[in-house]
Amino acid sequence: MLIKVSRQPLADIKAELIVLPVFEETVPEWKNTLQDPSIEHFLKSNPKFGKAYETQTIFTTNKQLLVIGLGKKDKLTFETLQNWAGVGVKQQLTKSKTLTLVLPKLTNLTPEQTGEAVALGIEIASHDPTQDYKSEPLKITLHTIEIVSLIDISKGLKRGQILSNTINMARKLADTPANLMTPTTFVTQVKKIASANSFKLTILTEAQAKQKGMGGFVAVASGSDEPGFMLSLEYTGNPSSKEKWGLVGKGITFDSGGLYAKPSPHMNEMKYDMCGAVSVLGAVVAAAQLNLKTNIVAVMPMTENMMNGKAMKPGDILKTYSGKTAEILHTDAEGRVVLIDAVSYAEKDFKATKIIDLATLTGAVLGALSGVYTGVFSNNPQLQEQVIETGERVGEKYWAFPMDDEFGEMIKSDYADISNVGHPDREAGSITGAKFIEAGITKKTPWVHLDIAGTAWDSKPKPYRGIGATGVGIKTLVELVR
Ligand code: BES
Ligand code: MN
Ligand code: ZN
Repeated sequence: MLIKVSRQPLADIKAELIVLPVFEETVPEWKNTLQDPSIEHFLKSNPKFGKAYETQTIFTTNKQLLVIGLGKKDKLTFETLQNWAGVGVKQQLTKSKTLTLVLPKLTNLTPEQTGEAVALGIEIASHDPTQDYKSEPLKITLHTIEIVSLIDISKGLKRGQILSNTINMARKLADTPANLMTPTTFVTQVKKIASANSFKLTILTEAQAKQKGMGGFVAVASGSDEPGFMLSLEYTGNPSSKEKWGLVGKGITFDSGGLYAKPSPHMNEMKYDMCGAVSVLGAVVAAAQLNLKTNIVAVMPMTENMMNGKAMKPGDILKTYSGKTAEILHTDAEGRVVLIDAVSYAEKDFKATKIIDLATLTGAVLGALSGVYTGVFSNNPQLQEQVIETGERVGEKYWAFPMDDEFGEMIKSDYADISNVGHPDREAGSITGAKFIEAGITKKTPWVHLDIAGTAWDSKPKPYRGIGATGVGIKTLVELVR
């Protein structure tokens, strides 16, 4: 999208369509400038208008206005402003060519945050994966957004556009169906990204991973006819520092459940089981493009979870890269089995000093938090707090779960060191999943696990974002490593 900024007085704007903000219980700043009977009438007959993202079209004598609610003025957040900008764009995507967004006066966000939020909202709302494979796709007509702002937001706009371009790139990779997005096609994409950004890319084949002792990753990858790869990308933006973020993302390009095939009618959605991997990929690309002075290794274990003759079987015991042995009690709990090796790899081979993993790990996190919050699990209260607080600033919601030793007891195995599901019954499903991954951290490195099973994609559209992958976590990670 082409985004322009102008300081034109409101009365002079001759646009096809103007989006105006309305705060709840507040007379709009623009009311007097635009004086028109239809506006007077609307405001008088809708005194409660202004809830976040509610919309109304008003035709004045010479203009079409789209008024969009922003909620309570003193409660305005980065997230509300971002989504507010998205609502108008999403609604007009196939209806208008240009759109003029009039920003409200904002007191609780800096000019940079304002620009960033608005650019993110516009670009996130412009992305629609539903038309890519249709013979007669809907045509996007909207090409230019003019933002009317009294303050200079250009720096934030630029940052927001870089960030949202990588978020949309990541979303597209995740939305691509599993027949077209195998671990091999993902590697092809990552190779291009690595050379465009001068990243160091290391690709371990299944045979190489096996030789290194990554028994967990190999056990899952063996079950598919598609070859799997353990990928890592290194970005060194601060060579003089020994600090290095290890960002690890679950990269199951399709999760059938393995021999315990998923009974769910939603198995099609399991093309999204690689959303953790695309988020860490997006984060490292954005960090590089924003020139952040930080060091990152992104680790992406890429494989399908399938059920060929070599697939892992319940009762199998394997040796993970941490040295711990693990008993497979459920073949559909595969994410933790690849991640336990991936976090060890980040810690041992790349000397990551802080590790964050993102994974569509458990259906149970949806039971607890629906799609509203991402679940947080950690061995380190400071890093955990830092992630949650960073999320608040950029408009991503995180909720922490307890990680007491009692939960670790639940994954003790009769025959091996640990088992990949809690037993005898599967209580505390999301926490025991996290405990299994934590077992891969062998040197007490601060670690946070983010269970994005509820937040990684939408099956129902939002007013500001269509269905499909969300790119959750990228904004938080980029702000965190900044
Ligand atoms: N990828 C799934 C988790 C998932 C389910 C994500 C639904 C998003 C929506 C994961 O590999 C899985 O199958 N987990 C199992 C674990 C169980 C067998 C302990 C689950 O949640 O049912
Ligand atoms: Mn599974
Ligand atoms: Zn899975």
